[in-house]
Amino acid sequence: MVFGLGVIWFALTGSAVAGSIPDELRRLEKCHGLFVGERISKSSSLYAAVSTGATSGTDACMALLDRARLGPDGRIPSVNGIPDQTGHRILANLVEFHRSQLESPDFNAASGGARLREMDLFDANEPAFHFVYSLLMPNEPYSNVVKRAHGIRAIRYTSRSTPRTRRVVDLGAIAYSQGPGPTPDPWNPTLIDTGKIAGLVPDSVQNPIQKLETGNAQYQGRNTNAHFGAGFLGSQAYMLATWNGSNFRNWAKDLMADALCKDIPVLRSIDVLQAVKTDSSFAWRQGISCMQCHETMDPLSAAMRTQGLIRASPVNEVRFWVSRPIDRPSAPYPSMSPDPDYARRPPDFSLKYRSFDGTLVELPGTGITALGQALAERDDLYVCAAKRYFQLLTGIETDMRDDSDPLNPLNLSPSETKYRNRVIELGRQLKQDQSARELFKRIISSPTFIYPDRGI
Ligand code: HEC
Repeated sequence: MVFGLGVIWFALTGSAVAGSIPDELRRLEKCHGLFVGERISKSSSLYAAVSTGATSGTDACMALLDRARLGPDGRIPSVNGIPDQTGHRILANLVEFHRSQLESPDFNAASGGARLREMDLFDANEPAFHFVYSLLMPNEPYSNVVKRAHGIRAIRYTSRSTPRTRRVVDLGAIAYSQGPGPTPDPWNPTLIDTGKIAGLVPDSVQNPIQKLETGNAQYQGRNTNAHFGAGFLGSQAYMLATWNGSNFRNWAKDLMADALCKDIPVLRSIDVLQAVKTDSSFAWRQGISCMQCHETMDPLSAAMRTQGLIRASPVNEVRFWVSRPIDRPSAPYPSMSPDPDYARRPPDFSLKYRSFDGTLVELPGTGITALGQALAERDDLYVCAAKRYFQLLTGIETDMRDDSDPLNPLNLSPSETKYRNRVIELGRQLKQDQSARELFKRIISSPTFIYPDRGI
């Protein structure tokens, strides 16, 4: 009976927002499982509101998500002075989801797990925080994941009555360029919080350092917690995680995946023919297939060329990024042989790839902030977000590769094409309204959310 009425109502309104009560309950049960990680209690007030028809499943799901909404102080709501436990779990699960989506590793793992002091200074989850902040902070545009001019820091809490004592970082006995000489020298920076996550805030921590390894005197007093712009891309944690020890190729490769959901190669062979130089001294310049990757990755990594990794101590491995001076003029990207002044020139880059619809994108600029702006201009950033959230919420994977390369046809089935088109539409809506929360709502209110196996 109820089901029949629901179908009629559904047909009359022509809207996917509210269906039958069993369907709406199914919606709530599903989003509760996804967000909180457990079944919803049938005695909860949300369950009651949906089972009586007072609230739609979608509205109930959004009310649930809002338990992790960040207030003006960056904190999730509290109950009796303690962070709401459901809100905490939703926030922690969303951080974990974004962490798992990133191509770049945890920087602690990337550095062999031995960087104990860096672990105290930088949060390996910071790249994930940038995405979650755009989802849970009201009116925060999605594009800020690659445009924010500051880092994001977690607010954490612990139920222990005595808070953890702050460890002082012992820089060890090293020969300093200035200072007291080879005696242990304590440094007292602000460490990251430990405990359960209870919010996210713009990171304004300044951790200037005076003592540096010999040869780095010019960086004395630099903020070891500096952020270089472009949201997650310019965070100390992301730069450490993607560092390969010599250049920013990994950073560029990983950002294509992490910001745009694109795995190189993302250029067609015809796109790179002009760039191939058989008499170049670079091995990768000589081959078409090599350049299909390198022509995206190498000119993109050039945006980071002035960044340098400084070591405060070889003993406890405190490394951090600084911007090095630019004291050479711009020059064309080296194609024939190495340029000894490369890292001293302005960080001119080019963002080059084929979009999901086959458009050849080629956006030049200078510096990481300009790169963030270039990324935010294209649809791919938003289509990538839609692809991720569509998969999180419906379990349906979509193929968003270039679909009009005559040499590499995708051959998608009609249903794959349908979901791909849905994701493109959702991505374009996100670009328009910049609201990741609305994107969640659109997916949750769709029939696909509750019946992903019905091909609807
Ligand atoms: C699928 C993408 C891809 C293709 C195709 C590719 N490369 Fe690479 N190449 C990479 C990545 C990613 C790195 C950086 C890896 C790292 O730093 O750990 C790299 C690094 C290199 C390096 C090291 C350069 C340096 O200065 O450190 C050389 C040399 C190289 N590639 C040569 C080639 C050649 C030659 C070809 C063609 C035969 C080729 N690559 C094809 C992705 C690719």
